[in-house]
Order: sequence, then structure tokens, then C-alpha cells
Amino acid sequence: MLLHVREVLTPDELRRAREVLAQAPWGDGRPTSGEQSAQVKNNEQLPEACAETKTLQDLVVRGLQRHPIFFSAALPRLTSPPLFNRYGGASNSFGNHVDRAVRYVPGTAERIRTDISCTVFLSEPDEYDGGELNIEDTFGGQSVKLAAGDMVIYPGNSVHRVNPVTRGHRLASFFWIQSMVRSTEQRRLLFDMDMHLMQLRTQVGETDPAVIGLTGTHHNHLRMWLDA
Ligand code: NI
Repeated sequence: MLLHVREVLTPDELRRAREVLAQAPWGDGRPTSGEQSAQVKNNEQLPEACAETKTLQDLVVRGLQRHPIFFSAALPRLTSPPLFNRYGGASNSFGNHVDRAVRYVPGTAERIRTDISCTVFLSEPDEYDGGELNIEDTFGGQSVKLAAGDMVIYPGNSVHRVNPVTRGHRLASFFWIQSMVRSTEQRRLLFDMDMHLMQLRTQVGETDPAVIGLTGTHHNHLRMWLDA
């Protein structure tokens, strides 16, 4: 499931992020990639261990934690520490690749299975030309370029690329989620059920017997499929 998640960051948080990114020590994007990816990757990234990265990671993680739609869609169990990249000038694209199935969290023994890939856009679409995130889906290629502060989540096993940025700079945060529900199809069904239930609650109220019954059905599906 490819999903557009709106307003993960507030305008204030976005301003703060942009201030930090403007002063940050950008470096080559390749150190965090596998061999195949590194051959098609041409962008800049913030070092994983610097103070600016830490500040920005806290900001993004707070945005995720308070977002109800993100939680329902991803059912996150583990989140890799967000990373930050920049495309523009001579370092302006990332060709077709697949993300590695497992991420290792630096300095820890923690492993994260990359069920879901996430990109939070930090530049407005009119600040740069090109730079679309192109995701191969069963429906064909999906071209994604979102407002600053918005996020796209998509299955970790998709072939994807970032088209060359031909004007300006594209700033983004990217990271991976290991979901409590491993199967994309099951996650999709649970998310749809949750969204329809929310709609029904506003229409007929929390205490309607059918709402109570369907809420039970939703949670019984969660219990059946979820590893907490
Ligand atoms: Ni990727």
C-alpha cells in the first residue's frame, strides 16, 4: 500500500528543521547503501552520528508518534533512526534500486526488518524541478512529490528511484518501519477497517451496538495477525 500521510511536521517544526539543515555538515550519501544501490546513488546525506542528525531525528519521531493515521497504516513495532538527504547540483539523483531487507541500528545490536519505506518531504514542491520519488507498484509507476511536512509510506520491497533534480534542492528524511503486522495485505485490510470504523463512529456514535461489535472484530483481527 502506497499512502500519502499529511502534516507529519507542523509549520514551526519544518522551519526549525530547515534552519538545522542549512547549517548541517552534508556528506556523500553512499555509506549507508548496499553495493548495488551505491552504484546508482548520487546524493548527499547527513552523517548518522552528528548533533544535527540527532536534533532532526527527535523532531521527526515526535511527529510520527502523535500521528493517528500513520500509526493505523504502519502499525509500527520498530523504526530505524531517520536519516536526511539532499538532492541538487552535481549530486542530484538516485537510480532504480531496492532497499535492503534488514537495517542495523549503528552502535547497537538492533536489527529492523524493512517492511515499510518512508520519506518525509522537507522542501516545498515549487523549490525544485524534478526530484519525484518514483515507486514501481502493481498498478505501474507512481510519481510522488509532496508538500513539505507530508510523508509517503510504501512497501519496503518496491523498486524505486529519485528522478534528477534539475533546479534547486530537494531535502527529505527517510527511514524504515518494521511493522507489528508483517503482511502488506493484512496491514491494508486492518487500515481500511479502522478508517471505515472511524467514519461510522462519527455517523452513528460510539455506543451504537454495530460500532461496538465491529470494533471487536477489528481488534480480534489485530490479535490474530499482530506480533506486539
Ligand atoms: Ni531506497
